Amino acid sequence: MSSAESKVIVALDFEDKVQLHQVISQLKPQHCRLKIGITLFTHFGPLWIKTLQQQGFDIFLDLKFHDIPQQVQGACYEAANLGVWMMNVHALGGLAMLQAARSAVDRAAHHLPRKPLLIGVTLLTSSGEAELAMLGIKSTVDETVLRLATLCYEAGLDGVVCSAKEVALLKKRFGKDFLCVTPGIRLPEDDKHDQQRVMTPQMAVQEGSDYLVIGRSITHAKQPQTVLTHINESIVAL
Ligand code: C5P
Repeated sequence: MSSAESKVIVALDFEDKVQLHQVISQLKPQHCRLKIGITLFTHFGPLWIKTLQQQGFDIFLDLKFHDIPQQVQGACYEAANLGVWMMNVHALGGLAMLQAARSAVDRAAHHLPRKPLLIGVTLLTSSGEAELAMLGIKSTVDETVLRLATLCYEAGLDGVVCSAKEVALLKKRFGKDFLCVTPGIRLPEDDKHDQQRVMTPQMAVQEGSDYLVIGRSITHAKQPQTVLTHINESIVAL
């Protein structure tokens, strides 16, 4: 299997170097891609991206930019210049911010060997109806995700981050090429932790997920590579 065939993106959410090394040393770039989020990036900085790229890994830089358009434009340009495979912004930043992100990545792509995929975070998979109510949002989760995904589509983004529960709805509306990247993935025996809108890898792929972001189910396992192999085998034929 090559990383191009695996739908799994392993979320490296560590600030402990020993733990991080232990997990990475067991993973192979042929079997997964890696996600660098705010914890690891804030602790180790951009140099770590280069280190992992030199080992052959494709990197999803998950910094979820959300600021005024001019700031997001600058951040997206710099992120694209790191040579990452995928990067993201928060759709809640609005259409002008999403368009600024799109134009920054397009501009950087002129001098890059490959254009990074740019996706928008709809609603965090740790949020449900209760969080929406607290924010004063009266729409349901599905309505909110659909509205935010529409902004991403209109701004020309390559897709969205959403829960696997919304993939069928979004694929129906925006077509199969609009990428759906889904965190909130749990094996049947796993703890949900802080996630609310969860699904198993098989169910997520059957719903149409293009990529599965999986953190603790793999990284906190005694043998991360064994769990990853098991997940890859369980979804490869779906
Ligand atoms: O450990 P777990 O599998 O829950 O990790 C999920 C990862 O996906 C975390 O790195 C988190 O930042 C990320 N994520 C998420 N929900 C989103 C977007 C990203 O959980 N909507």
